Amino acid sequence: MITVNKEKCLRCGKCTGDCIIKILRKDEQGYPFLAEKYEKSCLDCQHCLAICPTGALTCNGVSADQCEPIKPLPDPEDMLALLRQRRSVRKYKWESLQPEILEKLKGSLAWTPTGCNDHRLIFRVIDTKEEMLFYREETNRMILKLVNTGIMKWIYPAINRFLESIKNGEDVIYRGAPHMIVAATPKNAPCAGADPWIALSYFDLLLQSYGLGSCWCGFAVHAFKWNRTLKKKLNFPKGYKIAAVLLFGKPDVEYCRATKPENFKIL
Ligand SMILES: Cc1cc2nc3c(=O)[nH]c(=O)nc-3n(C[C@H](O)[C@H](O)[C@H](O)COP(=O)(O)O)c2cc1C
Repeated sequence: MITVNKEKCLRCGKCTGDCIIKILRKDEQGYPFLAEKYEKSCLDCQHCLAICPTGALTCNGVSADQCEPIKPLPDPEDMLALLRQRRSVRKYKWESLQPEILEKLKGSLAWTPTGCNDHRLIFRVIDTKEEMLFYREETNRMILKLVNTGIMKWIYPAINRFLESIKNGEDVIYRGAPHMIVAATPKNAPCAGADPWIALSYFDLLLQSYGLGSCWCGFAVHAFKWNRTLKKKLNFPKGYKIAAVLLFGKPDVEYCRATKPENFKIL
C-alpha cells in the first residue's frame, strides 16, 4: 500500500513518472495515488519513496525517515581498484569475524537487485567455526569416498586436478575458510538463474572492501546437491534450489599487485 502525506506532497510528478509499471497515477488534484486494484501489481521497488523530494510517500509501512540519506559514492578509480584487486582467496586465518561486521554484511543483502524485485531469496551464513567444521568434514568425507570409488571423475571432471590433494586430506573445497554464505532461490523465481549470483557478487565486493577475503565455491554447490546430510543441515525450504556458495574470512595471504588478465572480447 502506498500512502501520501498531502501536506508534504509538492505534486511534482516525480514519483508517478518513475513508477516502473505506471500504476502510480495522479488524481484530479495532481496527488499520487495507487488504485486498490493495482496493489498486487506493485513491485514494492520503493522508487516513488526514494525519488520524492519531501519524503511524502510511505510504501508498505516504510517511510522516508526510515531510509538512509544520499551519501557521496566512492570515486570511480577507487571502485576500479576494488574490482582489479579482488582476488579469490584460498588461505584464511582460522578466526571468526566480529559479530558487528557479520551483521553489516548480512544487512547489505537487502539491497541486491533481483528480477521483478522478487525478495524470496534465502541465505544461510555460517557464523561459527564449529559449524564450518561440520560442513568441511562431511563434504571431504563424501568427496574422498566418491574419489576412491572412481565415480567422482564422472560426476565432476574438474575435480581431477585436485585428486592427489584430496587423497592427502587437504581441504581443497573450503580452503580453511571460517565462514561461508549459501544462496538459495525459489525454483520458480522469474530470474532464478541470476539472482543468487548477483546477490553474492555484491556481498563479495563489500567483503573485499573491508580487507576480507572470499572465494566462490563451485565444489560446495555440487556437494550440497549430492549429500543429504549437508542438504538437511542447510535446511532450505522445499521448492528452493541451492545456487551459489561464497567462502569468506580474514585472508592469510597478501597480494603485492593486481593481476593483468586477458581482456574479454567486447563486440
Ligand atoms: C562460478 C565460479 C565458481 C568457482 N568455483 C571455485 C571453486 O570451487 N574453488 C576455487 O578455489 N575457486 C573457484 N572459483 C574461483 C575462480 O577459480 C577464480 O575466480 C579465477 O581463477 C580467477 O581468479 P581471481 O578470482 O583471483 O581473479 C570459482 C569462480 C566462479 C566465478
